[in-house]
Amino acid sequence: MYQFWNKKNWNYKKYKAAQIALNKRKIKTTWVTAKDIEFISQFIKGSGICHGARNGFEVREFNKYVKTIGTDISDTALRYGLIQWDFHKQNPEWIGKFDFVYTNSFDHSYNPELVFRVFMEQLKKGGKCIIHTSDKMETILHGYPGDCFGATKQELIKMLGGEFYTFKNKNIYIITK
Ligand SMILES: C[S@@+](CC[C@H](N)C(=O)[O-])C[C@H]1O[C@@H](n2cnc3c(N)ncnc32)[C@H](O)[C@@H]1O
Repeated sequence: MYQFWNKKNWNYKKYKAAQIALNKRKIKTTWVTAKDIEFISQFIKGSGICHGARNGFEVREFNKYVKTIGTDISDTALRYGLIQWDFHKQNPEWIGKFDFVYTNSFDHSYNPELVFRVFMEQLKKGGKCIIHTSDKMETILHGYPGDCFGATKQELIKMLGGEFYTFKNKNIYIITK
């Protein structure tokens, strides 16, 4: 398991600035595909929230199947119909509210255990937390303040529990509340 931010170099202002700079540099690009979302949609129903949705692509795709809103830490969020929000923070209005919580930005967390707790709290009983990653996140240690968390599949399975799927070379962890 690798985390760029540690007790010695931790600085929230720098973390947030690094995320926003990266978001703006890649604002037109999309990691997840429509086929990925179609595949994941078979596991969900009801309504959900996507965290770290950059230009809102996955929110639009999920909305073809289920009612979905999205967030991003960047000040570009509003422009793409998202709520500007840091997924490490809990929003009392979201506690127990969703049938699913989705992110493919877990590798951008400075505290993945905290984020996972926050996501699980946002679920209704029986709801699903979906963490979508690539092998890149799990094998390459970036040494970089943006993609600041790396872990192997085994480490993520241990941390998250739940079910594990692969689809088109991407990894999907589904944890039911
Ligand atoms: C790898 S990109 C993924 C973008 C999009 N989901 C996709 O599939 O293309 C990571 C996104 O997460 C956002 N992000 C990073 N840290 C975040 C945080 N703490 N809370 C919410 N969003 C965050 C970034 O601004 C960026 O848009």
